[in-house]
Amino acid sequence: AMITLRELMDYAAENNFGMPAFNVNNMEQVRAIMRAADAVDSPVILQGSAGARKYAGEPMLRHMIAAAVEMFPNVPVVMHQDHGSDVGVCLRAIQSGFTSVMMDGSLEADMKTPASYEYNAGITAEVVKIAHAGGVSVEGELGCLGSLETGMMGEEDGHGSDEKLDMHSLLTDPEEAAQFVKDTNVDCLAVAVGTSHGAYKFTSKPSDDVLKIDQIKKIHERIPDTHIVMHGSSSVPEEWLATINNFGGDMGQTYGVPVEAIVEGIKYGVRKVNIDTDLRMASTGAIRQHLSENTANFDPRKFFNAAENAMMEICKARFEAFGCAGHG
Ligand code: G3H
Ligand code: 13P
Ligand code: ZN
Repeated sequence: AMITLRELMDYAAENNFGMPAFNVNNMEQVRAIMRAADAVDSPVILQGSAGARKYAGEPMLRHMIAAAVEMFPNVPVVMHQDHGSDVGVCLRAIQSGFTSVMMDGSLEADMKTPASYEYNAGITAEVVKIAHAGGVSVEGELGCLGSLETGMMGEEDGHGSDEKLDMHSLLTDPEEAAQFVKDTNVDCLAVAVGTSHGAYKFTSKPSDDVLKIDQIKKIHERIPDTHIVMHGSSSVPEEWLATINNFGGDMGQTYGVPVEAIVEGIKYGVRKVNIDTDLRMASTGAIRQHLSENTANFDPRKFFNAAENAMMEICKARFEAFGCAGHG
């Protein structure tokens, strides 16, 4: 059954767990997440970006989600719009049946230029008004995702910019967060604490200086009733990086957000953890390996199935680590 993000976050807070929110673009991703949730008895958040609707086609994405709900009637499903860039994108998601939307006003509508507080609070409040009138939840974002090592946003997923970000926007300020929640009435808030989108987050295992889980604690102490969202939270599994490179790929050495750091964040109010890159890497690694080991195969179901199974294992591991397994 479909539920709203707010219902799920409130329940997660009562029970001290966090929810991975996986991005979906195709059938195999949807099936991997649903099969994993079913296996470990977890609710799910399926999130689609505007890019996902463009990739699959809006009706295709909408019907894939409907199919997921029909195939797994016991799994509670939140259908969430990831990184809405303006009011129109969020409104179209609502018309499409999403039960939750993210209005990302931390960046201007080009999704590259850091926006002013006034712009962000104004446009987010506007979306909250419309969405809440229809019983739909809203996630906002305060602060810009970017590396505390380099000051750069993640590069390869359309959120990139060459501009260096200043320290103030790279780290969400607890006081400003309290003001933002008051000004907008968002249900949950994405914060900047040193994570960034894509595979290239950290050049070595992240220390407390570049991944600031203590900042989450400070924000949570100031706004304990607001559910905190961590973006850019892929762990960039070493073994999948190796598999990709062992079977003809060429990815650079890189480090993601350790699962233990996320688990620590969950203790301090993180309820939604956005993950896209990990499933992309598992899928690519599994397909590269399958094709390289089965050179005569030309049935795509075989390698798509390998991709689905690889993604499913990651989903299961995150459901268990974040504590939502058993809460479906
Ligand atoms: O934060 C972005 C997600 O990784 C989705 O990326 O806009 O390429 O679908 P996308
Ligand atoms: P990753 O690139 O770390 O998977 O982050 C995804 C994300 O934040 C989607 O909104
Ligand atoms: Zn994100």
